[in-house]
Amino acid sequence: MQTSTIAACPAAARSSQMTAAPPSPDTTPGQLASQLQGAREQARAQEREHLAREFHDVLGGLLTAARLDIASLQARLGGHDAEVDRRLAHLNDTLRAAFALKRRIVDGLAPASLHGVGLTASLEAMVREFVEASGIRVSTYLDNVVADEATQLAIYRLVQESLTNIAKYADARAAEIMLRNRGNTITVVVSDDGQGFEAGQARPGGHGLEGMRHRVESVGGQFTVDSARGRGTRVSASLPKVPGPGATAH
Ligand SMILES: Nc1ncnc2c1ncn2[C@@H]1O[C@H](COP(=O)(O)OP(=O)(O)OP(=O)(O)O)[C@@H](O)[C@H]1O
Ligand SMILES: [Mg+2]
Repeated sequence: MQTSTIAACPAAARSSQMTAAPPSPDTTPGQLASQLQGAREQARAQEREHLAREFHDVLGGLLTAARLDIASLQARLGGHDAEVDRRLAHLNDTLRAAFALKRRIVDGLAPASLHGVGLTASLEAMVREFVEASGIRVSTYLDNVVADEATQLAIYRLVQESLTNIAKYADARAAEIMLRNRGNTITVVVSDDGQGFEAGQARPGGHGLEGMRHRVESVGGQFTVDSARGRGTRVSASLPKVPGPGATAH
């Protein structure tokens, strides 16, 4: 297991990480080629992450706005004209299909790092970026886990969306990520010491938590959110190493 606490780096350290070091005169052509390949893979991974975030945030926001408009049209016009009711119901079905497509696209944009360096190192890289951007302290307790690709992706997206939610809503000072490997079960927990929320007060129309549940359940796992005002939030999932009978392929 790897345990670490990551705190925000000073700006100088941050900027030095962003600048590629010039090749030393001793660098062989082979080393140069592999450095170039590494840089290309990193750029591709960043682009996929960017696309996945755009789809989740921007397209998700647009679809949510459309859903709210349909709900308000249904409230005003519903029940008076059968043709209008039929078209509104059809619009709702179309929207549901668009949400499902968005989820499949985001799911399919697996970060290349999962294939390259594996889940634990990918999570560590994600946490480092999060800490630099948010200044929130994050402790990680990460076992090395062996799991199929869909399970790894479900874990990766759960941690990613939990951290996004923490940055957006929690007003937390610290967060903790645990990834445990016990017998046939993998457990992942992301908790924060922020303001928490009551189930009924969550912003309507959000699909981050819903998407996490969907991904976890689609690989046969169980998903839980515990939160209460003033008592932080804890998002957790337990997943079978071998997807169970409830698992569905995407
Ligand atoms: N760590 C957290 N701390 C405080 N509130 C949270 C936290 N995580 C989620 N919430 C609350 O739960 C709501 C639902 O979260 P969810 O991720 O499902 O949707 P969203 O973030 O609002 O929208 P989306 O993820 O689709 O961009 C949030 O709007 C917020 O009110
Ligand atoms: Mg969210």
